Amino acid sequence: MPADNVIVGLDVGTTKVCAVIGEFDNDGKLAITGVGTSPSFGLRRGVVINIESTLKSVSAAVEAAELMSGREVSSVITGIVGSHIEGINSRGVVAVTGKGREITQSDMDRVIEAAKAVVIPMDREILHVIPQEYIVDDQGGIRNPLDMIGVRLEAEVHIITGSVTSAQNLVKCVNRAGFKVEAIVLESLAAAEAVLSREEKDLGSLLIDLGGGTTDILVHIEGAPYYTNVIPLGGAQVTGDISIMLKTPVETAERLKRESGCCHFSLVEPGEETIIPGLGGRPPLALARRDLCAIIQPRIAEIFSIVRDRIEKKGFAGRLNGGVVLTGGGAQLPGSVELAQEVFGTAARVGLPTRLGGLVEEYRRPEIASAVGLVMYGARFADPQAREGAAKDGPRSGIFTSMRQWFRNFFE
Ligand SMILES: Nc1ncnc2c1ncn2[C@@H]1O[C@H](COP(=O)(O)OP(=O)(O)OP(=O)(O)O)[C@@H](O)[C@H]1O
Ligand SMILES: [Mg+2]
Repeated sequence: MPADNVIVGLDVGTTKVCAVIGEFDNDGKLAITGVGTSPSFGLRRGVVINIESTLKSVSAAVEAAELMSGREVSSVITGIVGSHIEGINSRGVVAVTGKGREITQSDMDRVIEAAKAVVIPMDREILHVIPQEYIVDDQGGIRNPLDMIGVRLEAEVHIITGSVTSAQNLVKCVNRAGFKVEAIVLESLAAAEAVLSREEKDLGSLLIDLGGGTTDILVHIEGAPYYTNVIPLGGAQVTGDISIMLKTPVETAERLKRESGCCHFSLVEPGEETIIPGLGGRPPLALARRDLCAIIQPRIAEIFSIVRDRIEKKGFAGRLNGGVVLTGGGAQLPGSVELAQEVFGTAARVGLPTRLGGLVEEYRRPEIASAVGLVMYGARFADPQAREGAAKDGPRSGIFTSMRQWFRNFFE
């Protein structure tokens, strides 16, 4: 039976599709009751290129999650990624119209609308509009201006846009697998919801989601997103490098990476060895873990350096006092934290979704973070109590509403 108190996050990734079922208990607490994953074959760098194959992975992942939770899924909140995603900062200004110049919800809605009035190419649409700060007359840094008195209301916002066709293809897969898409959320925003603390967002942090096909980054400054970017490199490139350098099939390279891989020399003792299985009558070979590390480390360092260059170019490098947080499957590589600390010159940690109850063992993994985040994202807007601290994202005028609006315009 589909139940009202169930929220489902569906992360359609390049290497795996992951469905996570969250349920509110009688006390209104959210717990994860189902996690299902299935290998994904129909995507390239985060974007659907084969509908049939993707819908099969979606069905399999949801089915597995349904089995675990005993719930039937009818609708999902889907994540979106890909190089087509772009983030820009914008600003809107309106006059406060209400009685006594008291700022109302309608003023806040209007100022967001004004900030949205930027020229966006025909093939792209707005995915999220997230308020960063409000300015009432000349007083800046206001998170929630409701009921304040002023003449002029300004909003600074981060606008995330995406390709209409990429989103439509994603929705088509999910619909054809038999599920309604409740909303589309940028994966990195979802991951941030699951793994970043309020302090990290306030102090300034860099979230890096090391996926299979893409590396997604999201910079928070003073509590709000300021920079979004997608780098078309990920764990698949690391596996590809290993496969080429060691002349082994991709499957073997993937296994070697997961079982013996490392991306920081300091963590591997000189004598440590692993085995490359024999192929076609060839005998198995011993491989020094340091040699494997010598293949992996440069690629991850390259990805981190690209991220660092982009952050520096945008002027955010010196503003990351909350440090770097790594999620996605790639964050599980031993040494990822050490390497990030070196490249970014700041504290780093692996981000696991830890704030919910339920099937802790199943979901406290960095590659499940986005899917858990999608559930948390949905919950924040479904349950008024869970909205605490959400004022900055503006539950009424903010992300979800605009997302729904966008969604209505294009898919219904
Ligand atoms: N234990 C591990 N050690 C090293 N790498 C790992 C480990 N587990 C998973 N990975 C790598 O993480 C990548 C998959 O991560 P994730 O599941 O976050 O990607 P995805 O969401 O499917 O892809 P994308 O976000 O790019 O669409 C793969 O390249 C995989 O090899
Ligand atoms: Mg992913």
